[in-house]
Amino acid sequence: MKPNAAAIQIDGKRLARELDDLGKISAEPFPVVTRVVYTEADLRAREFVKALCKEAGLAISEDAVGNTFARWLGSDPTLAPVGTGSHIDAIPNAGRFDGTVGVLGGLEAIRALQLAGVQPTRSIELLVFTAEEPTRFGIGCFGSRLLAGVLGEEAGKKLRDDRGESLDAIRTRAGFHGELRSVRLPQGYYSAFVELHIEQGPVLEQKNLDIGIVTAIAAPATLHLDIEGEGGHAGAVSMTRRRDAFLAAAEIALAVEAAAKATGAPDTVGTTGICDLFPRAVNSIPSRAHMEIDIRDIDGPRRDSVLLRVIESAGEITARRNLAMQSRVLNSDPPARCDSAIVAVLQKACQSHGISYEPMISRAYHDSLFMSVVAPTSMIFVPCRDGISHRPDEYSSPEAIARGTLILAEALRDLATLPD
Ligand code: HGY
Ligand code: MN
Ligand code: MN
Repeated sequence: MKPNAAAIQIDGKRLARELDDLGKISAEPFPVVTRVVYTEADLRAREFVKALCKEAGLAISEDAVGNTFARWLGSDPTLAPVGTGSHIDAIPNAGRFDGTVGVLGGLEAIRALQLAGVQPTRSIELLVFTAEEPTRFGIGCFGSRLLAGVLGEEAGKKLRDDRGESLDAIRTRAGFHGELRSVRLPQGYYSAFVELHIEQGPVLEQKNLDIGIVTAIAAPATLHLDIEGEGGHAGAVSMTRRRDAFLAAAEIALAVEAAAKATGAPDTVGTTGICDLFPRAVNSIPSRAHMEIDIRDIDGPRRDSVLLRVIESAGEITARRNLAMQSRVLNSDPPARCDSAIVAVLQKACQSHGISYEPMISRAYHDSLFMSVVAPTSMIFVPCRDGISHRPDEYSSPEAIARGTLILAEALRDLATLPD
């Protein structure tokens, strides 16, 4: 039998162990994962993954922001490689499977192909994206945005963390050098890109399905509001004389909920994830409120209409309460349509193994949202318990992850092997 047709064996036990080991590299005790980009935990996690990639004989390189490339050279290195990968950074108080399943699962898929004696024509490259999460710099996916050219050098230079320190200063201190403009991938760099990820939703588990094949990825918009009122003594200032910044923020948060619900579409979601108050003292009236709002939809124009509605409502609320307000839209990205040819490859892989699957959309965004700008892209979802994610009790079973990894390995083999 041709080596490229050999049966693929996924080492699910080793993969589960590696996911647990990576989960222990965190700013918080296991099973809580907090791994914010360029922090000590993030850098240690990068070293952990790179060591595993080196053991697998992959050629490793990093770009100016720390996007990490681990390449298995194909028989014709002049051809555009097939890419796979995800992220290892994590928001505060998160779980150990978001992103990491796509990185360590991608590595395991490559190891399994090597073990099966497969010799890909195209190189296969595992990508570990820098900063899929928005935690430190306010927008998600700045690593893949730069790779895809969606975030330019000037805008990248303006990124600051919550202490006002620049991306350039922080990345340099973390050991990543070079011009931001050098990060952008040339058009056609990858022939295809496939990302393995936990679903971060309940659909697969509720339908008792093994695999989700992603056909579209919802698009995020991020809105920051800064509200300025008047502080004062919580006892001395009568209720009629107050200009309380938090009460305006509270009304605005409810307006976010109302605007998202008003579309009547289940794919429209709105969240006020951050509301910082100043001076943050129980006996002092909040004079300032900083809000960060996340609005998403699979339908771009519908998402934009909700964003506009929220900004208008915020203006009305703060004017009525005689407060000042500044608003800033950090990003409002178009949704991604996945590539039908890649979707077909994934369907074929599931069928060849008798693994149940369903095409579906992703309400979470992923680096694939931006990789779809530069390469034919799709994603493989595996079920996670009760659809929970971005929480320490996030969980996907070793069996579910191994099935997703098998489909990934089959797809990589298919995409990297040219017809004789
Ligand atoms: O927020 C998201 O959708 C992703 O998990 N960063
Ligand atoms: Mn996430
Ligand atoms: Mn993720």
